[in-house]
Amino acid sequence: MIIYIMGVSGSGKTTVGRLLSKKTGLPFLDADDFHPTTNIEKIKAGIPLNDNDRKEWLQTINKLARQYTQQKGVIIACSALKQSYRELLANGLEKTFWFFLQGTFDMINKRLLERKDSFMPASLLQSQFDILEPPAAAITISIDKKPEDITAIIMKYMNQKSSFGIIGLGVMGKSLARNFASKNISLSLYNRFVKDKEEKVADQFIAEHEELKTAQGFDDLNSFVQSLEQPAKILIMVNAGAATDAVMQELHPLLTPGSVVIDGGNSYFKDTERRLLQMQNKGVYWIGAGISGGEEGSLKGPAIMPGGNKEAYEQVRVFLELIAAKDNYGNPCCGYLGAGGAGHFAKMVHNGIEYAEMQLLTEVYYFMRKGIKLNPDAIADIFNQWNHGTLNNYLLEITIDILKTKDNGDWLLDNIADRAMSKGTGSLATQTAASLGSPAGMMTSALFARFLSAQNEIRIKGQQYYSQKNNHNLSVSIEEIRSAYELARIINHHQGFQFIKTASDEYGWNINPAQLAALWTNGCIIRSTLMNELAEMFKETTSVLFHKKIIPLVKAKQPALAKTVAEGIINGMAAPVLCEAQNYLNAIAEADSPMNLIQAQRDYFGAHAYLLKNDPEWKPVHTEWKKYR
Ligand code: 6PG
Repeated sequence: MIIYIMGVSGSGKTTVGRLLSKKTGLPFLDADDFHPTTNIEKIKAGIPLNDNDRKEWLQTINKLARQYTQQKGVIIACSALKQSYRELLANGLEKTFWFFLQGTFDMINKRLLERKDSFMPASLLQSQFDILEPPAAAITISIDKKPEDITAIIMKYMNQKSSFGIIGLGVMGKSLARNFASKNISLSLYNRFVKDKEEKVADQFIAEHEELKTAQGFDDLNSFVQSLEQPAKILIMVNAGAATDAVMQELHPLLTPGSVVIDGGNSYFKDTERRLLQMQNKGVYWIGAGISGGEEGSLKGPAIMPGGNKEAYEQVRVFLELIAAKDNYGNPCCGYLGAGGAGHFAKMVHNGIEYAEMQLLTEVYYFMRKGIKLNPDAIADIFNQWNHGTLNNYLLEITIDILKTKDNGDWLLDNIADRAMSKGTGSLATQTAASLGSPAGMMTSALFARFLSAQNEIRIKGQQYYSQKNNHNLSVSIEEIRSAYELARIINHHQGFQFIKTASDEYGWNINPAQLAALWTNGCIIRSTLMNELAEMFKETTSVLFHKKIIPLVKAKQPALAKTVAEGIINGMAAPVLCEAQNYLNAIAEADSPMNLIQAQRDYFGAHAYLLKNDPEWKPVHTEWKKYR
């Protein structure tokens, strides 16, 4: 693509050419840099060039342009005032694009008088206007616009389409955009326009990052969609819920059939299924893709959990795989998980596991800090020793950094209010576990621990009345706490994967746990050595707790977990997730449970009937309990 930007001196050709070069990635040449010295001398002396003076110079430019035909092309700023000059410039070139920057004499003269960096005196302007033959075969653009706008117009005419679009330039959207750009994917970026709050967000962001120089920025959704190769491929990175619905509604009429829209937010999987159906009416595909890794992961390589129409996924697969983290085998941490909302479901459970992992670390820290009286530095040292081998994990890693962070000599952590917040995925995980009848107790307890922490008035009052001990004193070793943590993590992962299995069976997703665990080995928040081990174990089992490598480990660590939990409880310390792990283990180790009493009670007051242990047909039985009184 050979692009000539033409016009008299002072019309802004160089500025626009450079901007265009940034946007397109094409090299830029300023024809004025190639004048022979005799020409420069003449110009400096205020003597206009004649056709003869210009001939050799124009031939040089044409020669240079021809060298770029083997490559992607070049942008050349050249006055090209006469038709014969333009013919010389286009000589031997298959296709040239011409853009004429047009302005009045007064307007340009004013600019030239202010200009300091040119060897052309303003006095020569009239001679240029005198010989100017306005081109018939060029796109004429008035220079009363800003150079950025002129560039945008040229881009539009050149039909420079981006192969991928991103909507929503929050923290994650921005990091993902830079990640895509670093893989040389041509991008269009859109951020909504909110007066005085979000104005020209995309353009500013593009200007701040060198790798985005070829990206196109928009705050008009229609122009954004038009700037994309069709059918469009778009990633939405906006808040889950109403914001996602709003973008979907706005996008819907703008998209052509066959377009693929990826929702990369933390959407509820049932919302994803609804949206998928709504978009399907128009032949537009909706891919629900959980993306984990936070700001840094998004930039360097996140874990991506896509679900939806398989063929549609295949069309965006190459983009997602390029930006994803890589697992131990070099495979991308991105893989199709199943139809409908399977991808967002997996991300929701990822976050449920994340909640419990964070809470486990919090309880272990609490036991060491208040039960064994270690300071954060000492705890960080212990965690550092743990952070090798099987216990190595990202959340432990960041916790070590947090514990070591001091602000004005104090541990920063000690100044942070102890009210844990949440954005909703933990709550959705808990609600969904309940609706599917999946006993994912650890993530549920972790969520409720956050809720209780947020009710600090109750805790302040509670301490007044019920504080059991001012001074907790745990009789438990660091090694025992380590074992408790190790075992509780295994149970947490077991519960998470069981939850996935229940949903996968219910919805027919056929999620492969080995593939999912491999996808979670890098890029995401719950990446860990344990996850790597699980990825291998799931090749042999569907239930972690019954894998041959895990059984002896659970047996060996179980006494330490029980002791740690018991010590915590009798010392007045709340550790709901460690307790939940122990309770779960106790419960599954009891084939003959007391839950028959629940059945009897239900039948007593509600005639709900029960099943008999030794009835192979499981026929419901009701008893008139009062008759026995
Ligand atoms: C991730 C995170 C990310 C975010 C969640 C959790 O995988 O990158 O899970 O999605 O941290 O929104 O946030 P809350 O703790 O606020 O629910």
